[in-house]
Amino acid sequence: MKLADARRRAEELRKTIDEHNHRYYVLNQPVITDYEFDLLLNELQELEKRFPELVTPDSPTMRVGSDLTAEFHQAEHTWPMLSLGNTYSIDEVKEFGARVSRTLGYEPQYVCELKYDGVSISITYENGMLVRAVTRGDGSVGDDVTVNVRTIRSIPVKVSAKGIPDSFTVRGEIYIPRKGFEEMNAARQALGEPLFANPRNAAAGTLKLLDPRIVASRPLECFLYYLLGTQLPADNHFDNILAARSWGFRTPDIIQLCNSMEEVISFLIQWEDERKSLPYDTDGVVIKVNSLEAQRILGATAKSPRWAIAYKYAAEQAVTRLLSVDFQVGRTGNVTPVANLEPVLLAGTMVKRASLHNSDQIGLLGLHYGDTVTVEKGGEIIPKIVAADTSKRLPGAGAVTFPQKCPECGTPLVRNEGEANHYCPNYIHCPPQITGRIIHFVSRKAMNIEGLGEETVELLYRTGLVRSVADLYDLKHEQLASLERLGDKSASNILSELESSLSAPWHRKLFALGIRHVGETIARILATGFPDIDSLMKATDEELTALPEIGPRISASIREYFSDAENIETVRRLKAAGMTFGRAIQETTHDGPLKGMTVVISGTFRNFTRDQLKEAVEAAGGKITSSVSGNTSFIIAGNDMGPSKRAKANALGVRMVSEDEFMKMTEE
Ligand code: IVH
Repeated sequence: MKLADARRRAEELRKTIDEHNHRYYVLNQPVITDYEFDLLLNELQELEKRFPELVTPDSPTMRVGSDLTAEFHQAEHTWPMLSLGNTYSIDEVKEFGARVSRTLGYEPQYVCELKYDGVSISITYENGMLVRAVTRGDGSVGDDVTVNVRTIRSIPVKVSAKGIPDSFTVRGEIYIPRKGFEEMNAARQALGEPLFANPRNAAAGTLKLLDPRIVASRPLECFLYYLLGTQLPADNHFDNILAARSWGFRTPDIIQLCNSMEEVISFLIQWEDERKSLPYDTDGVVIKVNSLEAQRILGATAKSPRWAIAYKYAAEQAVTRLLSVDFQVGRTGNVTPVANLEPVLLAGTMVKRASLHNSDQIGLLGLHYGDTVTVEKGGEIIPKIVAADTSKRLPGAGAVTFPQKCPECGTPLVRNEGEANHYCPNYIHCPPQITGRIIHFVSRKAMNIEGLGEETVELLYRTGLVRSVADLYDLKHEQLASLERLGDKSASNILSELESSLSAPWHRKLFALGIRHVGETIARILATGFPDIDSLMKATDEELTALPEIGPRISASIREYFSDAENIETVRRLKAAGMTFGRAIQETTHDGPLKGMTVVISGTFRNFTRDQLKEAVEAAGGKITSSVSGNTSFIIAGNDMGPSKRAKANALGVRMVSEDEFMKMTEE
């Protein structure tokens, strides 16, 4: 295919994909199947791979997450990002209305919208292109999270329609729908990764991630509820929102123009219950004066506009009794307190357990056994205890205290400085930690040994057959076949699954080891950066933290893992059983200008993604490595190359080339 034909086809594909994205994410009316959509996207991705000059920043392929690593710069808000005055009382909403009418001299129209429970964002478009997305920050300066926001499919990266101003800002709320949140947490739980407490925290955490590829994989959505600019389409909020909707923005689906305060109050009452059946969390209603002129007259205080107010619905609460507290020990030794309650009906479900988070939380509540407690269900899936009624405390009731020793193995618990959780350091011999590690090792996303469920693992542990993941590979057919509930057939299946797991992908094996803080994503990143376990075992903090998403906490945990004799022994035994811990070997057989050269790519680039550069190096016969050493032939240095890499390159006298120089080298 010629470049000109490719360009034409790429433009056509982008237009079609944008239309389907809009139908799917904004209008909720898809007209093609996901499979058909993927075919279109794949075709575009292939074209852009073959002709990198065709890649544009607004291409829908960029939403799958480019491998640019974001570094958040601060950006100033053109219009300050104020917060809203809020109230839980209908009387105060009426007082707000009376104040507004007094100032204006008449009763204005109001617009009611639900108050979405997420993170606010301010997005600027210039000439129809999304140029900048900034978090609230302190209201005048926020974090520039443009690369992450570009991955959210309900936010257009390009808008074109008649009458769109050259420059404008839209503000809205980024959130994660309840279903997506539950799926995300279920996946995290299966992987032993820490859970998000509620969809709002999950959205906020995701937006600040440094790797847009991970952001792209999270189910973020957005409602845009505020249009700002110097040439707006209408003189009132409601029509501006309708205009924004017609330009392709996803605006509030529940929005009502009210002609009086009475209509506003009816809206508040109507949505108190109805909002619960929506697929996303809301915690109130935002009431806005409709006319922009009236808004201008009403003005703002330093903190919030006088033309709007948030009415918040109280979280649902119930009163019950605290029966006991369990201290559960997880796979990584974390000890989590869970309260057992006298069952009580709360927000439509019978609640028997509540989370207590950690010892600080227990201390703050001053809990005693048998206390009458208030439980609340806010955005959280698991209700929490918010208060204890001391007036109803039973005489002689003992205070709930956090154990000093592990409830499972008796080892004194440890609490790291700056962390809220206690954990049991008896990594090697604490029973739930051992079985938890084995269960994790055989789980679906790790070694995926079907037939080895939790109960079978517990049984293997109790019978003394398996005490470490390496023991799994010493199991004999008769040992398995003679266990309760297993027979010849299951035993054979398990053994053959174990056998084939020896050649599972490198990143899965790394994930399966269950290193603290190394979830599935981090394992993938490590497996990309290090060709095998030997190089990872030797890695320095510097080499580890040069990879995206790897900070000092994760780096320390990896180094700690590989400094433990028992872990080294496990890895040795797994290797002896035939497990390879490394990338499948791809011999570079190409002859080319970079034959025999070892190249490091560092930083971000103007014209190429790192994957594209990697392919170009390999196509020219070169080899990529992640860390700079005396063997490095040269470094392709992009913007914001890590300072430690730069220092090391200088110290070793390794040549650094720009992306343009590199292209010339390979052309030659
Ligand atoms: S309008 C100046 N509309 O609530 C008015 N805000 O507590 C700008 N929020 O900062 C905000 N849903 O993060 C507006 N429909 C909605 C909203 C909404 C949620 C958030 C937003 C705001 C906060 C105020």
